[in-house]
Amino acid sequence: MDAETFRAESRDRWERAAPGWAATRETMQRAAAGVSAWLVDTVDPRPGQTILELAAGAADTGLMAAERVAPDGRVIITDGAEAMVDVARARAEELGIRNVELRPMEAEWIDLPAASVDGVLCRWGYMLLADPEAALRETRRVLRPGGRVALAAWDAPERNPWLAVPGREGVRAGLWEAPAKGDPGPFALGDPARIEELLAAAGFADVEVGALDLTFEAPSLDAWWDYTVRTSTWLSDGLARLSPAEHYAYRDAVDKGYAEWVGANGAVRLPARTLVAQATA
Ligand SMILES: C[S@@+](CC[C@H](N)C(=O)[O-])C[C@H]1O[C@@H](n2cnc3c(N)ncnc32)[C@H](O)[C@@H]1O
Repeated sequence: MDAETFRAESRDRWERAAPGWAATRETMQRAAAGVSAWLVDTVDPRPGQTILELAAGAADTGLMAAERVAPDGRVIITDGAEAMVDVARARAEELGIRNVELRPMEAEWIDLPAASVDGVLCRWGYMLLADPEAALRETRRVLRPGGRVALAAWDAPERNPWLAVPGREGVRAGLWEAPAKGDPGPFALGDPARIEELLAAAGFADVEVGALDLTFEAPSLDAWWDYTVRTSTWLSDGLARLSPAEHYAYRDAVDKGYAEWVGANGAVRLPARTLVAQATA
């Protein structure tokens, strides 16, 4: 993998994915609110503190932290994609939360002075980076001594059929290649030992890795399909290359892969497991 090519393509994908993430934010957060709460509780923001959120997306986690540091503290909400920062800004305005600073920022090059923040939050971001160790070193640099990072990264594919099924079937359908070991992607940090190793290599102490279960819910397979296509440019770009017959065959294969999680009423409840980690700078 050429890191620079990867970074440019990844930024383009996330810029294009932002409208879909804005439109489907509630589906994600209904499943993932507990993960945000864990991350925020772990960093334990106090009134007056400065908290940084990396790869924030719609910033559901950072905005939760903003309430905890109010009235004088602030949360610096950042994302590599400007369009995602716009999504977060709109959400902050919708909630009337003012003690936030919203900025485009690369997680691998954190544009903040050393020892300038009290805590760092990152839900499902580090695993997508070309160099997660560099990002964790940067995270430690900007944390005040004793400050904490709390992060989430998806566990192994077998514990995440919601994402693994379309991924596996996409390889079979020729939509993309199976990721090589170590390449960035949703499962790149799906091993507690790897997260521990990266945090230790970045100089963190008191490293702890655990796991949280969550469930993605949709009223039907059609609704879940819509969610998936709107949030993944891998999928929407891949589908655009298929003939109608190939498209239907792929969709059928994905629906079959999900069959055991579809109830009698057609509603879908897909299990997911995320690793969560904390460490001290
Ligand atoms: C899977 S989404 C997670 C969004 C949000 N944290 C959440 O939990 O809903 C990944 C986010 O990482 C951002 N991202 C990807 N590469 C990045 C990078 N190199 N630097 C900063 N953000 C990045 C994307 O723009 C996207 O918003």
